[in-house]
Amino acid sequence: MQTQTLRPTEDGFATAADILTHGGLVAFPTETVYGLGGDARNGAAVAGIYAAKGRPSFNPLIVHVADLNMAQEFAQFDTTALALAAEFWPGPLTIVLPVRPDTSLSKLVTAGLTTVAIRVPAHPVARALLSKFGGPIAAPSANPSGGISPTRAAHVRDGLSDRIDAIINGGKCAVGLESTIVMPDDDGVHILRDGGITTEQIAAIVNVHDTIETSHDAPTSPGQLASHYAPNARLRMNALIAGDDEHMIGFGEISGQINLSSSGDLTQAAANLFAYLHMADEDAQTLGKTKIAVAPIPMHGLGIAINDRLKRASAARD
Ligand code: TXA
Ligand code: MG
Repeated sequence: MQTQTLRPTEDGFATAADILTHGGLVAFPTETVYGLGGDARNGAAVAGIYAAKGRPSFNPLIVHVADLNMAQEFAQFDTTALALAAEFWPGPLTIVLPVRPDTSLSKLVTAGLTTVAIRVPAHPVARALLSKFGGPIAAPSANPSGGISPTRAAHVRDGLSDRIDAIINGGKCAVGLESTIVMPDDDGVHILRDGGITTEQIAAIVNVHDTIETSHDAPTSPGQLASHYAPNARLRMNALIAGDDEHMIGFGEISGQINLSSSGDLTQAAANLFAYLHMADEDAQTLGKTKIAVAPIPMHGLGIAINDRLKRASAARD
């Protein structure tokens, strides 16, 4: 199949919505990363997402909806979830909630769990597509399984070209890190994945439990694969200086061939992270280096999610 690139225009959205209606796959930008979208009610479309990514099929997907109303068609909201939605939607927060019993969602989307991960994205292109399509879109990050998450249309094309119907080109993703995933319980939330909304921001609204939840209901806690987001070159964290065989990504005063944020701004570093990993991987190859070294990133605010992604990218692989 040839992958078409669509522009974010009325025509582009109409074509994309039509592809989704017929069970096809469309990659589209969100404020976090590009998603690989399919109709969340169509089992064949959802199966196609797993196939295109080469993803282990036990990993459930995030359902993207236009607004809270549409979210309530599929998930049961308690007061905690409503407070979070009011504060952070549209935006990079995914909430894991009980699926409504009468749901039209494909069982494959939730991987057979009784909960669904749901979010309202903020990116204008994602919003326009959701409103044109008028239904729920299942979308993991639009990269081959285990690869670096895409923050540009070109990254999606590099990874999934000819495996999906279309890509809507909406430029760079502003946040650059996946959404934060939370799961509410009786007296607060568990954070299942750090991401674009910080723990501090969430704690200002609801109680945050400090243990990572490993729910009996969710066999796969998010990003459970230790090696994930992996570049081809090996990656070393907390590097102060590059070795001879290393291409270096700097941060703040610790410089490298490229710098995530020379002013030490974690928001800018998050937005650059995946694009710079892509770039460093290519440059390392060109320059005959076997490793990527990354300067220390402070462990607060968005730094926690950045370090989590780097740790996965540096984990040993077979
Ligand atoms: O920013 C994002 O969240 C991006 C954009 C495209 O929206 N999407 C994304 O999706 O990162 P994905 O599939 O790469 O990550 C979804 C994570 C997985 O780690 C999965 O295990 C978790 O969400 N997840 C999905 N449903 C779940 C559930 N019912 N319970 C627990 N975790 C769930
Ligand atoms: Mg992903």
